Amino acid sequence: MTLRGRGPRRGAAMSNLGIVKDGALLIRDGCIAGVGTRAKIEALPEARSAEKLDVGGRVILPGFVDSHTHLVHAASRAEEYELKIAGASYEEMARKGGGILNSVKKLRASTSETLKRRALAALREFAAHGTTTIEAKSGYGLDVRSELKILGLHQELKREQPLEIASTFLGAHVVPAEYRGTPDGPQRYVGLLINRLIPEVAERKLAEFCDVFCDRGAFTRAQSEQILEAGTRHGLTPRIHAEQLTRTGATQLAVQLGAASCDHLEQVNQADIRDLAKSRTVGTLLPGCDFHLGLKQYAPARGLIEAGAIVALATDYNPGTSPTLSMPMILSLACTQLRMTPAESIAAATINAAYALRREKTIGSLEVGKLADISVFEVEDYREIPYYFGVNKCWMTIKRGEIVFRAAEAGASS
Ligand code: NIG
Ligand code: FE
Repeated sequence: MTLRGRGPRRGAAMSNLGIVKDGALLIRDGCIAGVGTRAKIEALPEARSAEKLDVGGRVILPGFVDSHTHLVHAASRAEEYELKIAGASYEEMARKGGGILNSVKKLRASTSETLKRRALAALREFAAHGTTTIEAKSGYGLDVRSELKILGLHQELKREQPLEIASTFLGAHVVPAEYRGTPDGPQRYVGLLINRLIPEVAERKLAEFCDVFCDRGAFTRAQSEQILEAGTRHGLTPRIHAEQLTRTGATQLAVQLGAASCDHLEQVNQADIRDLAKSRTVGTLLPGCDFHLGLKQYAPARGLIEAGAIVALATDYNPGTSPTLSMPMILSLACTQLRMTPAESIAAATINAAYALRREKTIGSLEVGKLADISVFEVEDYREIPYYFGVNKCWMTIKRGEIVFRAAEAGASS
């Protein structure tokens, strides 16, 4: 599957995967130098002297782009998982100091080394599930030192392992405990973000994007606007957690600000869908959250696609609402719960997700000039990628032309 074509896909175009039967790629210096049928590629003069990698007729596609993750965190929240199953709601636990604040406490108490070890293990797992680029958000630090620690780790991780990381500043995840005691506390925290953290993050080039969790119990639409506008003034592109638990108007704000994406969207209304469809802001759906929290209301993917919005899918890898890093599992959920077709789910996880990270010119499809970021699946038909759920069918992952993961059987037979 090449996903070739011009940029992000809307509506019916999401179903066109650009399939080449018996296809081949020519890779030079980590980039794609040729793509087409095997006969065509093998006939290229350069192909004769090239090293050959036979994937044995398996399905190959662009490496997944996971455009929404909270990569750096200290620990799981399995204890809350159990409470949720017993009936406690996500918001109830958050009000009692659990939820995000629970992860903040744990992160502040962790060393960079511990956090890095956990993140590196996760990155290897991302690669093992066919992902070649991820976005990573800060947001479990919520003070100057800890937020900068997370963003600094993003930079170290970028250098020290093969996957590409797009760094996002999410200082506006929730108001930290130390700003909750007084009525003006939240606004003082917004001031810290705007006057201190955003300028420093931008100055030190620690992030490309600025994100806000705009929801009940987090930040209001007005605060979100202030924060994202400050980000824009400092060159950080806005993106936003929108309409997850309640409808706040964050989608409208995202469109108004020309945000790269607005993510979640369980609670959008018809006007939101219409406005998003007319815009270039990507609607990123995160069905792993609803699945993990046991919620019944998934985002209206069909309505969004049929209206013509650019729809992407991501894991939202995080300890509170979606502790998975498997894009194939997200595709399975997209198909059964969001009623997306297998083809739509693949377009949403590759080219549209690349667009959500403003990287559609370099990744997200297998086309000449783009990076050789490729995943290979042990299946006969691309529809089997979402069809087999809960098992990992990824056979090989290639980043910039280098093999970064191969399944055990592949290793044994080569
Ligand atoms: O995307 N919505 C806010 N942030 C995360 C949840 C983070 C957490 O619970 O730790 C999300 O769902
Ligand atoms: Fe999130």
